[in-house]
Amino acid sequence: MTAADDDLRPYFDAAATGLTFNSPLGEARATALLDRIQPPAASSRVLDLGCGSGELLLRLCAQHGIAGDGVDNHAADADAARRRAAELGLADRVAFHTADATTWDRPADIVLNVGAGHIWGDSPAPALAALHRLTNPSGTLLFADSIYDTEPDATVREAFGDLPDLAGLARTATDAGFRVLHAAASTQGEWDDFESDWRAGVERLATPGARAFADRRREEYLDGYRGVVGFAWLILTPA
Ligand SMILES: C[S@@+](CC[C@H](N)C(=O)[O-])C[C@H]1O[C@@H](n2cnc3c(N)ncnc32)[C@H](O)[C@@H]1O
Repeated sequence: MTAADDDLRPYFDAAATGLTFNSPLGEARATALLDRIQPPAASSRVLDLGCGSGELLLRLCAQHGIAGDGVDNHAADADAARRRAAELGLADRVAFHTADATTWDRPADIVLNVGAGHIWGDSPAPALAALHRLTNPSGTLLFADSIYDTEPDATVREAFGDLPDLAGLARTATDAGFRVLHAAASTQGEWDDFESDWRAGVERLATPGARAFADRRREEYLDGYRGVVGFAWLILTPA
């Protein structure tokens, strides 16, 4: 985060408190994605890099009775994830580490990286290269990140940079040594719910600064990146 982002940290933290997933992910897609990811063995481990509150990792471990690790460098996220693991009775088999994910070097059978490809840089290629090294040969990677659904105007491109479209992201995954088993993009409804729920957390702070920040985010979304910035879901296996 930049120094300017540090000033906004309380708003980002407040936004995250009301969210189940810190990405445009609805319950139906979450269930379908988890059903598609089958652990190769009962002893399989799951690794979630940039796990946030760890909900997807915890659900996957609960569904298959397997163990895992979540890594997030923001202490508040890792703490929230530990509390959620305890609530679900999973604290003994899902560990949350407050750490920089770029330092993690233990591969896993199932790797999750959702909305956190930026950990390795501004483009998805270095993220996919790093995640390839961390995914066991017969394993699975769930990689989800921003894309352009439609051509951005100059303002949106300035804010979000050179994102690929869904086909381009799938090609980058192939180039990084993966087979693409599943490729989809979040729906407009998932995006609208995510943006509204995100702002609702900021609104709950009920300060003039928070309201101004929430208003700015709403305007940037509705007048700018709504329908333009998308979010891709790829299920990948090493080729
Ligand atoms: C958009 S959130 C996504 C969280 C979660 N995967 C989800 O979908 O709910 C991105 C997460 O990446 C984490 N993050 C950013 N840089 C990181 C790094 N270098 N190491 C570990 N986590 C990082 C942030 O703290 C944040 O929780």
